[in-house]
Amino acid sequence: MTHVTLPQLGTFQVAESVTDVRLFVASAKRHGLSVAFVPTMGALHAGHVSLIERAQSECGCVIVSIFVNPQQFGPNEDFSRYPRPRELDIEICRRAGAQLVFYPAVETMYPAGFQTFVEVAGISDILEGRTRPGHFRGVATIVTKLLLTVQAERAYFGQKDYQQQTLIRIMARELGFPTEIITCETMRDSDGLAMSSRNAYLNPTERKAGLCLFQALRIAKQRVLQREQSIGEIRTAMRQYVEATPGAELDYAVIVNPNTLVELIHVEPQMVALIAARFGSTRLIDNIVLETPGSWSWNENKHLSVSLRSWSAG
Ligand code: PAJ
Repeated sequence: MTHVTLPQLGTFQVAESVTDVRLFVASAKRHGLSVAFVPTMGALHAGHVSLIERAQSECGCVIVSIFVNPQQFGPNEDFSRYPRPRELDIEICRRAGAQLVFYPAVETMYPAGFQTFVEVAGISDILEGRTRPGHFRGVATIVTKLLLTVQAERAYFGQKDYQQQTLIRIMARELGFPTEIITCETMRDSDGLAMSSRNAYLNPTERKAGLCLFQALRIAKQRVLQREQSIGEIRTAMRQYVEATPGAELDYAVIVNPNTLVELIHVEPQMVALIAARFGSTRLIDNIVLETPGSWSWNENKHLSVSLRSWSAG
């Protein structure tokens, strides 16, 4: 057990209790430091590191949580086999510039008899939620508990899990969390596969097949830049690409409104393509923002400017 009873800034620490995190945060705030928070489930890769580094560049101190949250795994999902390389993960956080790692036990977050859950209606039941019932209730509940524990100025999430970041933004707004939600771009391997802790489950054949997700998304992007006017055509092109890939079992390929995730009927200036498929026993997801040529950049985190990529390709 690690106790952080006397929080010292400038040193790297691991906390296992909510009290220790609160003491650390109180100390950071007394020192006038802004607090950044990066929630994770560990098995850290360069995608997680990019979040920690961005947080580090924008705030005075960074807290990373590592907690494999049982509430967001279905009964037939990979909770027990989810990788937990504790010491390596802690070292990665230290090197990436975090000051504190919160590494709670399951009983710390869910004491016996726990019965309070947070649910964001509607968005929790579509897309990922349809295939993974209860998943987003688990995510919303743990993120609420973590945000209440850390009370950071800013919390960092990946665009990789597009529906998750949308749900968290809605929840933070509607419940009035004092924390600003920041979304960071998806980190990819050099061949385009979105980094994910679950990529470790893929055998070489499955990994190669997994590339079809990003390729299908690029096809969608290309169609939009070529001024394709039919959403149906774009969607079909994505689906056909994945369905033609041996070893890929498509779950969904849709084009949605970036804020509500409602499926679009007509091409709009800002859209997001979301895709999910199974490769053997592993389910992968990916997404891409689609902007029609000449439209204003969608992302409030980026500078508002006419998309140069769209210009050059248009
Ligand atoms: P986890 O899958 O560990 O991801 C932690 C954070 O890293 C999430 O915000 C996720 O979107 C981001 N991330 C994952 N892969 C990424 C990539 N390739 N590029 C950029 N960011 C990436 O998401 C969760 O954990 C959990 O649901 C959690 C929010 C911690 C709640 O339990």
